[in-house]
Amino acid sequence: MQRPNYLAILVTTGALLALSGCSARNPQAPRLESAIQPVATLQELMQTEVDASADSIWDAVETTTTRSGVEEKQPRTAEQWQGVRRNAIILIEAANLLAVAGRRIAATPFPAEAVGALDSAEIEQQIAGNRVAFNQYAVTLRETARTMLAAIDAKDPKALVIAGGVLDEACESCHLAFWYPKQVIPSYPKQGDPRLQKILTNPTATQASEH
Ligand code: HEC
Repeated sequence: MQRPNYLAILVTTGALLALSGCSARNPQAPRLESAIQPVATLQELMQTEVDASADSIWDAVETTTTRSGVEEKQPRTAEQWQGVRRNAIILIEAANLLAVAGRRIAATPFPAEAVGALDSAEIEQQIAGNRVAFNQYAVTLRETARTMLAAIDAKDPKALVIAGGVLDEACESCHLAFWYPKQVIPSYPKQGDPRLQKILTNPTATQASEH
């Protein structure tokens, strides 16, 4: 019979003792999750990261129709592609930040913005009561932003425009569920409506953009 390898046993026992000693000495050792602490409010996250990054990506591939024709903007230089890529990364990771629990809605409570919209306290309740759905919307946002990143890496402006349309829906679907769930959509002006007449006779109304 082979003799047991005492050195190996000694080393292993030592390592085990060191490990257990470590946790025994640090019973309050912080768990990994508690290292994450939301600081910005949801409103600040929307303004500074989500909306700001989405806007610059949309703007980068904007299509403007004027009387003189259609102007299709797109990133061209390496620097421009790098800029739009940076915003896609911000958007992807901002979506992850949305899923971090315990984030306040706003530094100062705000009232409902319009008929059918929720105030900040109601938004907080709505999220707390539907956390799984809220996180699912955040995941949808992240995955949509990833398709944008792929389009950017492929330097494919058409794919970026398509993904931009999906992004718009990803934003809106969460807003509809958690921000203005009972919104009242004004009726579309009918033919002969003086408001429509005004728009049609206003020369600036010929300017239209994708967003
Ligand atoms: C997971 C849900 C969710 C997604 C996805 C989401 N939002 Fe929001 N957003 C909210 C909620 C809830 C509010 C209302 C509370 C507030 O104002 O922060 C809000 C508010 C906002 C506001 C108003 C901020 C202010 O000044 O009060 C803007 C602008 C905004 N979102 C832009 C966007 C854009 C652009 C996207 C997509 C690129 C997006 N959001 C995606 C949940 C979401």
